[in-house]
Amino acid sequence: TKEQTWSQRFESALHPAIARFNASIGFDIELIEYDLTGSQAHAKMLAHTGIISATEGEKLVAGLEQIRQEYHQGKFHPGIDAEDVHFAVERRLTEIVGDIGKKLHTARSRNDQVGTDTRLYLRDQIQQIKQQLREFQGVLVDIAEQHIETLIPGYTHLQRAQPLSLAHHLLAYFQMAQRDWERLGDVYRRVNISPLGCGALAGTTFPIDRHYTAELLNFDRVYENSLDGVSDRDFAIEFLCAASLIMVHLSRLSEEIILWSSEEFRFVTLKDSCSTGSSIMPQKKNPDVPELIRGKTGRIFGHLQAMLVIMKGLPLAYNKDLQEDKEGLFDSVNTVKACLEAMTILLAEGLEFRTQRLAAAVAEDFSNATDVADYLAARGVPFREAYNLVGKVVKTSIAAGKLLKDLTLEEWQQLHPAFAVDIYEAISPYQVVAARNSYGGTGFAQVRKALLAARTQIAQQ
Ligand code: ARG
Repeated sequence: TKEQTWSQRFESALHPAIARFNASIGFDIELIEYDLTGSQAHAKMLAHTGIISATEGEKLVAGLEQIRQEYHQGKFHPGIDAEDVHFAVERRLTEIVGDIGKKLHTARSRNDQVGTDTRLYLRDQIQQIKQQLREFQGVLVDIAEQHIETLIPGYTHLQRAQPLSLAHHLLAYFQMAQRDWERLGDVYRRVNISPLGCGALAGTTFPIDRHYTAELLNFDRVYENSLDGVSDRDFAIEFLCAASLIMVHLSRLSEEIILWSSEEFRFVTLKDSCSTGSSIMPQKKNPDVPELIRGKTGRIFGHLQAMLVIMKGLPLAYNKDLQEDKEGLFDSVNTVKACLEAMTILLAEGLEFRTQRLAAAVAEDFSNATDVADYLAARGVPFREAYNLVGKVVKTSIAAGKLLKDLTLEEWQQLHPAFAVDIYEAISPYQVVAARNSYGGTGFAQVRKALLAARTQIAQQ
């Protein structure tokens, strides 16, 4: 096996198990493209500032490009002895361009290097996830548009509360996704800061130009303090927070879909393309997709928790603990992307709302009781008094096995003389929803406005 890059300082070789334990190449190979790009920027800067010659700079950049080709062609397979992606690249570069390759690491440390790579990686991933959120929002809007006047029971405490436009319900998820999209944009601003040139911790004796590399790599700015630059993982934690909230939202939607598809609700039918069967119960059709999304949520919360714990006791600056930032971050990125994709497909083509069943559901409960109280209150009865009256009617109706719509006009008028025949219209489910026309409410006019606004919002990239 090859020698470690740092072996000259050591008397004897690393124990093979410890070499495996120490190595990150098994997972940080994921960063290779960013490592190459970051190193190319560094090489250009070394030439630009005269720290190396222009020809040397060109050779380094070309050699790094060759490694990129080799990697794309599936020909770059560094082993455990390379330790990590940074050493693997430097070693291969030296094989390709000869001793000049050994100049690449001038005025740089793996500490600022790995920070640069991770930020470049996360920057790309954030843009991809934002795009996926837009697609998810697009599907929500498409379905909402078809269901403006489809009514669905609205719940509080999972008890029937007031009926809603199904579009309004779906647009609530649109709004959560909108905040997620904005939050990622906000996180991005703190991901997109260059630590390159912070060196190991203290800066460097060479006349480097940090702003030059930052510009080449499209960073918005550079870390102002070299010690902070190599120590900081706030950006990863912030991303994990944003990812956790995306998962909270997907998980709540998943939970609702699981409930809705149950025999008890029967609000949606799962299509065959997105559900699976049982090995023993022939009748089963299971909502695996939303269940998996709900379940995977735990992983992301775990990664967030792990990252917080990794950081909390770390003295400045780099400590090997920081190598533990990567697997959780990569897994979170991959999991969020997979869940967003699956949920978008599930909504777009994996489930159907049972509109007849939904229409029946909103007609068979007391979720219009508030509207009776509002009816009286609008006619001058103090709301609390009206509320108490209706509470009594609900109690006696339940005892008599009746719904509010079954009461005769005489019964209404015995209760209060303000009732007239228009009470029946006022408590019909359609009218109950239509009447909630306050800003942001479920009234159809509001929902139509919200849909228009949503369309405008997702056009913004
Ligand atoms: N593989 C290391 C990591 O992922 C790279 C940085 C190593 N730096 C060091 N001083 N040992 O964190």
